[in-house]
Amino acid sequence: MPEPARHRTVAGMNKYDYFNLRDRVALVTGASSGLGRHFAETLAAAGCVVGLAARRTEKLIDVAECIENQGGTAITLRMDVTDAQAVDAGIERLTEAAGIPTILINNAGTAAPAPFLKATPEETAQVFALNQTAPWTVAQAVARRLVDAQAIGSIINIASITGLRTVGGAASYAVSKAALVQMTKVLALELARHDIRVNAIAPGYFETDLNRDFLNSEAGQKIINRVPMRRSGDAQDLDGALLLLASERSRFMTGTIIPVDGGHLVSGL
Ligand SMILES: NC(=O)c1ccc[n+]([C@@H]2O[C@H](COP(=O)([O-])OP(=O)(O)OC[C@H]3O[C@@H](n4cnc5c(N)ncnc54)[C@H](OP(=O)(O)O)[C@@H]3O)[C@@H](O)[C@H]2O)c1
Repeated sequence: MPEPARHRTVAGMNKYDYFNLRDRVALVTGASSGLGRHFAETLAAAGCVVGLAARRTEKLIDVAECIENQGGTAITLRMDVTDAQAVDAGIERLTEAAGIPTILINNAGTAAPAPFLKATPEETAQVFALNQTAPWTVAQAVARRLVDAQAIGSIINIASITGLRTVGGAASYAVSKAALVQMTKVLALELARHDIRVNAIAPGYFETDLNRDFLNSEAGQKIINRVPMRRSGDAQDLDGALLLLASERSRFMTGTIIPVDGGHLVSGL
């Protein structure tokens, strides 16, 4: 009989300490605003050293200052995630400064509010590059380093409920998020043998720069009225799923997609 696989855990952690993220290194893409900023602040408050990646440096500096004022540690990384060389250089800088990121939040993303028949090639390519190819590139760059170092890791992709069901008027966005859902499962399968878990959070509607105008429009309010909990999400509503998936409390979870949506996916017909 082969020996059953044993769970490896973070060095020095006891079984009551699994939510502890102290001194773990996390990389958050799209950390300059919206949900990514909140994820970075939450992970820093939980004890992680956080690499903040995005293109707008001044915004990243502001996030880093907020984290440091709260006693946390953050490293700003100017990184266009659609540029594989910039991704590699940014991760190398974080690794040199703090260590290999063992938590990755693949969060950078964009929406293109266009129905299929009106979607332009340029806009569609941009959405696919950022929402689909970039999380692949970043996950690969992080996972290769983790495998070389024989370190455990947790990759969390920020998908969307539009990747699980359909939505009108944002075809490329929904398709790119469905690809991210499938990527989560396929990478979970391939990386499990290396103790790297891959899961996704599928948020419903959360008011951020991405959708503020839409959510405040009449059409947006109609959608919110169909959410069983009758409101859009606050970034804090994602904390439970984030900390669960980042920490060793979810050590036997991989390939899962966790919707956080006020019940939107189960809204009645
Ligand atoms: N808000 C929602 O209701 C909702 C629902 C479901 C899923 N999501 C997902 O949650 C994620 C965050 O969305 P959000 O609502 O927080 O939007 P947001 O406020 O517009 O933030 C998007 C982030 O992505 C970064 N980004 C854009 N292009 C980038 C690039 N080429 N390289 C690096 N970073 C880039 C932006 O930073 P820079 O411009 O500084 O680069 C920004 O920090 C997205 O993946 C989105 O699809 C959001």
